[in-house]
Amino acid sequence: MLQGRRIVVGVTGGIAAYKAVEVCRRLVDAGAHVVPVMTAGAERFLGRTTLSALCSEPVQTSLWNEVSPIPHTRLGQSADLVLVVPATARLLGAYAAGLSTDLLTNTLLATRAPVVVCPAMHTEMWEHPAVQHNMQVLRSRGVHVVEPDEGRLAGGDIGAGRLATPDRIVAVVEQLLGPHDMAGLRVVVTAGGTREPIDAVRVIANRSSGKQGYAIAAEALGRGADVTIVSTVELPVPIGAVVRSVETAAEMQAAMNELAPTADVVVMAAAVADFRPVDRAQGKLKKAAGPPQIVLEATPDILAALGAAKPAGQVLVGFAAETSDLVANAEAKLRRKNLDLIVANDVSAPGVGFQHDTNAVTLLCAGGDATTIELSDKRQVARAVLDSVCVIRNSPRGASPS
Ligand code: CTP
Repeated sequence: MLQGRRIVVGVTGGIAAYKAVEVCRRLVDAGAHVVPVMTAGAERFLGRTTLSALCSEPVQTSLWNEVSPIPHTRLGQSADLVLVVPATARLLGAYAAGLSTDLLTNTLLATRAPVVVCPAMHTEMWEHPAVQHNMQVLRSRGVHVVEPDEGRLAGGDIGAGRLATPDRIVAVVEQLLGPHDMAGLRVVVTAGGTREPIDAVRVIANRSSGKQGYAIAAEALGRGADVTIVSTVELPVPIGAVVRSVETAAEMQAAMNELAPTADVVVMAAAVADFRPVDRAQGKLKKAAGPPQIVLEATPDILAALGAAKPAGQVLVGFAAETSDLVANAEAKLRRKNLDLIVANDVSAPGVGFQHDTNAVTLLCAGGDATTIELSDKRQVARAVLDSVCVIRNSPRGASPS
């Protein structure tokens, strides 16, 4: 998503400086060229070597010692974005006042690129009127602020001022620098496995973790879409997504009947139970009563119903979890359910599908195109799925007719 984008990451002297390392690593993983800058204060908290090793270039710290005679203008002018993580009260004050005291503040004043600051400090400092005034000044100048979280702070205090999570910080960067090829599109993604109750405590479930659906949601958000996740699982919610929690196939179908008709893109990544108990026992079935006879009935095929009622122009994406004849089975589902794209995975292969962080898939389009994605991070698979969705949307035929 951030391929070829140049991000200057400024690290200042707060206890949260160590978390900047994780942010840098994730930005590099997303394809960015990450140029680290440390203040003198940051060097008290973090070794140069650590940051240099995880970024795309060695750390720069000084206006004077570098090979380039004017490093701040070079850094500021060449950046697609400048990110300050963590941003101390001192840095925020200097930036708001226009003070150029070191390489980072000079770079901030020399750039016309978007700037994102991630404040982190003790609650008393964060709530101080001087700091809040500086934040107001920075916001009014268009600086993007990733608000700190509430939580445990250095020294054991609890309150507002804890650095935002790397997830939130990276999501903001992606939303600013991402391709925006899904700007304004309404995307509905289902995620997780449905649970069909047998009695008050037992369910028929499956191994789906929901990770692939959430990765698609995060990717769509980064590309500018409005995203709703219809979810059976509790995973960290990608910043900006709306989550509709459901449990059974019937609840998922009700949610989709409401949300899908106005969606531009629908992705059924959920593993929906095909069968459910006809009757749900009241209370808990007791062991002493012996093995129960559980009579099953078919659940509705949510995706097939969505395919039958697909509005013109909507791109409908299904998944096919297979253990044999991957392509033939997936192609049959693609046709039978009137899909534009199916994501087929062989869930019996190592590292693939349910519960893993990785996946290997074959993408089959209604137009006949096939793409194979070797074992990769689920976010990379999400990227490939949405690349295909965008190609389908932009193709002269658009989505296949309903
Ligand atoms: N699906 C659905 N409703 C169901 C079953 C499946 O909407 N009751 C959707 C899944 O979300 C997925 C696609 O249909 O996007 C294919 O699911 P899969 O379990 O692979 O296939 P099935 O249609 O259930 O067929 P089979 O179990 O025979 O492979």
